[in-house]
Amino acid sequence: MYYEQNLVTGVTGHLGKIVAGQLLKETAAENIVALVRNKEKAGDIIYKGIEIRIGDFDDIEALEKAMQGIEKVLLISGSDPVNRLGQHKNMVDTAVKKGVKHIVYTSVSLKDFDSSANQFLMQSHFQTEDYIKQSGLTYTFFRNNLYTDVVPMYGGEQVFENGITAPAGDGKTAFALRSDIGKALAKVLVQDGHENKIYDITGSQAYSFTDVAQTLSDLSGKNVVYNDLPVEVYTAQLKTFGVPEEFIGLMAAFATDIKNGQHETVSSDLAQLLGHKPADLKQSLKEIYGL
Ligand SMILES: NC(=O)c1ccc[n+]([C@@H]2O[C@H](COP(=O)([O-])OP(=O)(O)OC[C@H]3O[C@@H](n4cnc5c(N)ncnc54)[C@H](OP(=O)(O)O)[C@@H]3O)[C@@H](O)[C@H]2O)c1
Repeated sequence: MYYEQNLVTGVTGHLGKIVAGQLLKETAAENIVALVRNKEKAGDIIYKGIEIRIGDFDDIEALEKAMQGIEKVLLISGSDPVNRLGQHKNMVDTAVKKGVKHIVYTSVSLKDFDSSANQFLMQSHFQTEDYIKQSGLTYTFFRNNLYTDVVPMYGGEQVFENGITAPAGDGKTAFALRSDIGKALAKVLVQDGHENKIYDITGSQAYSFTDVAQTLSDLSGKNVVYNDLPVEVYTAQLKTFGVPEEFIGLMAAFATDIKNGQHETVSSDLAQLLGHKPADLKQSLKEIYGL
């Protein structure tokens, strides 16, 4: 049995919740501490016996209390695109101050940062990586590719009627399912041998939105089409639907990067961490859409 104290962030979100659940299969609940900023959102975690410590990435005093006696921290990247670099730095500085040994950080997989359409969002990941390296902490970076779970952002609720719409051309993405990433993160937290390693976390194959539409058609028996729109038409369309400006920019940037092959690189790292191939597109879409 493993007796180190692991502090996990983001457990009230999608990925962190999966990690917490998987950690409970790998170690006893008393070895897991969850950092949450809203206790009400953590009800099911508390129920499972995991200790909750309250803190926001912006609140250094709370972070210091939360990291008392902690050996490993899983820092799941924050969701505030403007302020998250400073928030991540707060986590790293506090980890150093409180004697944390090892930090695991969820970063991003990108082929070429310099030509990315999504530099604003992506740069804080690489800046965080650099900051962690400079801190002297032992690190493990999960450079996550796009979650397969984000496919519905391009399909909407009416995907089986209206199809998938994205300005992504024939670009392919080596999508990885959150549930596979979460399992691998839990393993890395409880195992030795991941010190100062950078993992490229991708599925075992890259798929285009044509592949996604075809697989959804096969699974549902309906004709799911892929509408590959010019980016200007796509953004204008989202505007008419009342989608907020910053979200339109993000959706367009991700799709442009997909079109340009930024997310197409396949790595075997996730398969090696899991001990088996990650879910393929069909298995993933079945899980996501409940088909
Ligand atoms: N690879 C991809 O395709 C992809 C897609 C989307 C996001 N991401 C990145 O991956 C991360 C995890 O994904 P996810 O789907 O699990 O995101 P999510 O469901 O939005 O969860 C984010 C978690 O971070 C916590 N958090 C955010 N800001 C915080 C702060 N200031 N202090 C403490 N906790 C804070 C949230 O807490 P609350 O519950 O209190 O808000 C939540 O638990 C995201 O935050 C984002 O950086 C990657």
